[in-house]
Amino acid sequence: MDGHRRVLVAVASRHGATAEIADAIGRALEAAGVEADVEPTAGVDHLAPFDAVVLGSAVYMGRWLEPARRFAVDHAADLSERPVWLFSSGPIGDPPRPGPDDAVRLDEIMAATGAREHRVFAGRLRREDLGLPERVVVRATGAADGDRRDWAEVEAWARGIAAALSAPRVG
Ligand SMILES: Cc1cc2nc3c(=O)[nH]c(=O)nc-3n(C[C@H](O)[C@H](O)[C@H](O)COP(=O)(O)O)c2cc1C
Repeated sequence: MDGHRRVLVAVASRHGATAEIADAIGRALEAAGVEADVEPTAGVDHLAPFDAVVLGSAVYMGRWLEPARRFAVDHAADLSERPVWLFSSGPIGDPPRPGPDDAVRLDEIMAATGAREHRVFAGRLRREDLGLPERVVVRATGAADGDRRDWAEVEAWARGIAAALSAPRVG
């Protein structure tokens, strides 16, 4: 492969933390020589222009946001024909909770898309961003404000994707 691959980084984010992770993935891919388009899931109509897809969502109440779930279902056929990587942004606190294996179950989306990997990244919680129902949930769980996003981890993951896409006979 010559490195001129075009990757869609599609993201669902409620309060911006996951969108910024997607931006960081896009920048790291570009720095590694891979063309990357970062888009909200709701704004993507078709996958024809893309050789591979990175799909991510924030986790709320143990689930991906609805636009990300719908994206995986609507584009399942196209996704299963391309290399796909999934990521979630969720765990908050010190140490981040829930643990990466407990944050979200994506078995169905993994199966529908044929994704190679699902990576859980820690997230960010800012009370000032939240509406009243969310504040009630957060108060009940006792979660503390904080930004647990690990940019080095995010960038390293994206570099691994770029390397996989640059390897011969990908997909
Ligand atoms: C009401 C509420 C519920 C949440 N539920 C979960 C959850 O079930 N699992 C998890 O890992 N993180 C959970 N989180 C943390 C968010 O996923 C985290 O803050 C994420 O980084 C937010 O991303 P966003 O800014 O892109 O929406 C919750 C946060 C809020 C405010």
